[in-house]
Amino acid sequence: MEEDLEALRIGIDSAARALVKGFKDPEEGGRIESWSFSGKVLSLVISSRRLRIDEAAMRVKNVLEEVLGSTRKIGVRYVKLEDAFIEIDGEVRVSIKLPFIRSIETANGRTKIFLEVLDEKDLKKPILLRLLRLLNEKEVRAGWGGKTEHWQLIRQSKIKFDTPITVEDPNRILEEAGLVKRFSIGQWLYTPLAVYLLNTVRDVFIKEVVQPLGFQEAVFPKIYPLEIGLKTGHLRGTINSMIFASLPKTYNIEEFEELTDYMYVTNEAPPEEIAKYLRYPEYFLCFAQCEPFYWFFSNELLDDRSLPIKWFDRSGPSFRWESGGIYGLERVIEFHRVEIVWLGKPEQVVEIRNDLLKAYEKFMDEILDLEWRMAWVTPWYYEQSGAVEKVEEFDIDRPGTIDFELWLPYKGPREDRKAWLEVGNISIHGTKFTEPFKVKHNKGETLWTGCSGYGSQRWLVAFLAQRGFNPENWPPILREYIEKNPPPDPVITVTYPKTRSGKELLDKLMKYLKR
Ligand code: SER
Ligand code: ZN
Repeated sequence: MEEDLEALRIGIDSAARALVKGFKDPEEGGRIESWSFSGKVLSLVISSRRLRIDEAAMRVKNVLEEVLGSTRKIGVRYVKLEDAFIEIDGEVRVSIKLPFIRSIETANGRTKIFLEVLDEKDLKKPILLRLLRLLNEKEVRAGWGGKTEHWQLIRQSKIKFDTPITVEDPNRILEEAGLVKRFSIGQWLYTPLAVYLLNTVRDVFIKEVVQPLGFQEAVFPKIYPLEIGLKTGHLRGTINSMIFASLPKTYNIEEFEELTDYMYVTNEAPPEEIAKYLRYPEYFLCFAQCEPFYWFFSNELLDDRSLPIKWFDRSGPSFRWESGGIYGLERVIEFHRVEIVWLGKPEQVVEIRNDLLKAYEKFMDEILDLEWRMAWVTPWYYEQSGAVEKVEEFDIDRPGTIDFELWLPYKGPREDRKAWLEVGNISIHGTKFTEPFKVKHNKGETLWTGCSGYGSQRWLVAFLAQRGFNPENWPPILREYIEKNPPPDPVITVTYPKTRSGKELLDKLMKYLKR
């Protein structure tokens, strides 16, 4: 009917306007390229730069329903997306196994992804939204040509050593003198004397930085169900460096008999056989150490009375499977860390971070009296979740990560970037964790979190690298600590420490420490 067709034309004009709504530049919105009508089917060809196709389809449907409904009492029975494709810059690899993807073509620096037919139900599913978000992130990343790391110096200490006290590598000394022994790749056994040194620096940190600011000790689990890694993003961003754990398939020892008999007789433990008795990995080992904190407040409702929350955890190791560069105690697979966490309203979270920052500076500058610097870096929570957000220029009031670095004289002059070791960081995450974990305020106010990691091994190594093993060259607080808490005896056996020079080193160390 002529009137119906006329109403349709009006409807399509309105739909065209709806497709560019919200875009400053109309070119970025959607455009109706052509349309045709036959029987009861209206077909539209729509292209769009930034408006998602699912959103475009729903906008058209809503407008047509409104216009045709009010003027001609005609409804829209259903919407179907046919022959849709997404074209992106760069040759991007996407799994063909993803739902809704029919095929993928890459050519001449572009990727075309053809979608299955989608009905209205599919269009409303968040899975399509996530697929498009994924494609968008891949496009951005392809444009960067890989990972870009942001590093911007924000503060540094003055030069404290005209000539370094020492240029010895403390990793070598600790190993040769037998304070630590390599257990496996990136794992060490710390003898009581090594623990004594680790704790000396760490306890002073806790006493001078953590406790005065009112952080209270909690104990966090160290193996996490997969679901946690899905929420924090670790399973997407760092799956290549996480270590997983499996439960046994059964608790009944009899069901292991074939395997246990085999091991008894052969005295071998074949991993591929053992794997048959295990469930799939349902856990991963502690990675960022603050994950359980967000989990704890998940789905809880907080009020002003309960805020801010300030905790720390030092109860166990974290694990990172590093591909290369594992070295001494500096870069290990199993490491120990004091993880400081806090939760509050944005201004509380910023204030706590600022107080902590001041305390860290005092700790590095006065208490340990070291050469240090701080840099504004790619936030760990972006890096570890594989997100592609651009790192903003330094702005102390915004979410972001600050790294602490200490100079390692044995590695080279200060000018050499590689001669600095990142020993810790401090971050504000914004709502990066309160959102997925649904941590809410009873009056609907925004909640943010922050965390700070103190890597015990690294702080010790850097301290010893600058100040050496002789307490005469140590700052007063540490000397006092040593006087009040005498060191334990070292491990000396017929065959340990292994070398003559190692034994001599240990002798020298003990003379320093037990005066
Ligand atoms: N959780 C933070 C990180 O993994 C601080 O330790 O870097
Ligand atoms: Zn953390």
